[in-house]
Amino acid sequence: MDKRSFLKNVGLMGLAAPLSFAHLERAVADVKHLAPADLAAEEDFWLKVRSDYDIKPDYINLENGYYCFMPRQTMDHLVEHMRYINREGSHYMRTVQWENKNMVADKVAEIVGCTAGEVAITRNSTESLDLIIGGLDWKAGDEAVMAEQDYGAMLNHFKFIERRFGTVNRFVSVPNHPKSDQEIVDLYASAITDKTRLLMVCHMVNITGQVLPIRKIADMAHARGVEVMVDGAHAFSHITFQMKDLDCDYYGTSLHKWLSAPLGSGMLYVKKEKIDSVWPLFAERDLEPNDMRRLNHIGTHPVHTDLAILNAIEYQNAMGLERKEARLKYLQHYWTSKLRDHPGVIVNTPVEMSRHGGIGNVGVEGIEPGDLADALMNDHGIFTAAINRPGVRGVRVTPNVYTTIEELDALVSAIKKISA
Ligand SMILES: Cc1ncc(COP(=O)(O)O)c(C=O)c1O
Repeated sequence: MDKRSFLKNVGLMGLAAPLSFAHLERAVADVKHLAPADLAAEEDFWLKVRSDYDIKPDYINLENGYYCFMPRQTMDHLVEHMRYINREGSHYMRTVQWENKNMVADKVAEIVGCTAGEVAITRNSTESLDLIIGGLDWKAGDEAVMAEQDYGAMLNHFKFIERRFGTVNRFVSVPNHPKSDQEIVDLYASAITDKTRLLMVCHMVNITGQVLPIRKIADMAHARGVEVMVDGAHAFSHITFQMKDLDCDYYGTSLHKWLSAPLGSGMLYVKKEKIDSVWPLFAERDLEPNDMRRLNHIGTHPVHTDLAILNAIEYQNAMGLERKEARLKYLQHYWTSKLRDHPGVIVNTPVEMSRHGGIGNVGVEGIEPGDLADALMNDHGIFTAAINRPGVRGVRVTPNVYTTIEELDALVSAIKKISA
């Protein structure tokens, strides 16, 4: 082995340790015969998964939407990578850093069926999406379409672009219970004019958990010459999809959300032929046309985080994304179906399985969202997130795969008590 390949191999130490997720692999082997939708309700299996997580006993955590913390094994790998890179120092940075980062991009790209050349590893959704919003060549009078329910950081960046370049932001308001995909497509179409340049849309609305019909919106927008940027902060590694099926131009997500990668990891996808139309935030040297690296010159950064993304993917692969998706949908459906028709309770997430994942939102008539979240936490030991946004007033409830039915029963009982 020459010196370089030795270093590379050492640099990859621990990235693909086959036994590291043996516990999960054994548990999955026992239930391989079950379809994901049937396994979703097998509490014995999910209790085994739960034991991979260090869960605080102080409260019931139904706020995994901010950050899906890592299972113990991914965390151990992260610490190992940190130790290793601290020992290697600049040597690692000057030898295999970029090769390894490309490998990470490759593995992330595999999840959604695109090429590594269309993917940049970023720190989070904010960086990914703001790179596009801030990197397009805006001219005065250009218009962008977005929703009142979109994430604040992106809306703020669009506001800033409006002030800086004299562009115009147009808003739609996404209904919580659409009658059809067409209703949503027509809504976005109604905000497009002949000056519209970009349409931003959430794949999964973070405050309600509603999944939007991205492909249909993209087809409509493209037919009118408008580019589509998808905020996939909550959809990636939560629901199964392939990038080619969405046919969007840009897609940003955080890997520390549903992939359970370490904090500070994200992904930006740019359709190959669009890469050159985005100005980088930090300049890169001249590269071949449409080389994704031109958008990804971030300087020296915590490379151990990049490496642990591979371990997070390994963990997810051992579980199987389809099993994970089915479990998350099942959990959401479990608690929302017990509350949907309860007097005084308002569920702000659509009922159809195709329109939601694991996130749900519930309000109680006459109670401010902040007060509801406080009552749940202080009186019932249940941690949720208060949401008070246009058309959405309630608490966001985000279980993770390890959440138990007993925990959701506690939520249902607490909401019923509060609404009474
Ligand atoms: C829809 C949506 N977009 C973007 C973000 C920003 O994610 P991050 O803080 O990881 O950049 C979030 C965070 O919760 C979100 O829910």
